[in-house]
Amino acid sequence: MHVHNYEKLWLGASLLLIVGFISTIVYGAVGAGVVMVNDEGGQVNPSDLANTSGFDDPGVTKVGPNEYEVHVVALRFAFQPGTVEVPANSTVTFYVTSRDVIHGFQIVGTNANTMVIPGEVSKITVNFDEPGEYGIVCHEYCGSGHHSMAAELLVKEPSNFTMQDDTQTQTSGNGTTNATATPTGGESA
Ligand code: CUA
Repeated sequence: MHVHNYEKLWLGASLLLIVGFISTIVYGAVGAGVVMVNDEGGQVNPSDLANTSGFDDPGVTKVGPNEYEVHVVALRFAFQPGTVEVPANSTVTFYVTSRDVIHGFQIVGTNANTMVIPGEVSKITVNFDEPGEYGIVCHEYCGSGHHSMAAELLVKEPSNFTMQDDTQTQTSGNGTTNATATPTGGESA
């Protein structure tokens, strides 16, 4: 069978395109450091967060050398706590849940980004190498105050950092038990 040269050219070009598309998908899946948030964080009772370890006292807990956990409760229309302070050169794992409706949790300027679903705990681990200030925003429409739902994250020079409330170290030490989801945002900053 004779195949016209133009036909061969188009066949080759189509094949190249397909290989190119597959390459971009593979790169996006494994090469770009994107980690999907899964359900490893576990589940909680959204109407009983006051009695749920970790979320009963939202905030920062030191769990190891240069390792911190932050429990965050999202609600209409705020995050608790409204200001999170951690030192630079640290690995910070966020456990985020909602006590009312679906919210979003994005640390602006990083790839840490997850939905926040009542009853589910979203877990995101982020490395902060440099001091800086980040906004945290809700990116799921959650009601009339959605546009004002924000918090801030301050990554401080380690020499300037002190835990705001040492008692939290103990209260949240066991936060891991109910910590839940494991979506992982990945590295940033
Ligand atoms: Cu919470 Cu939008």
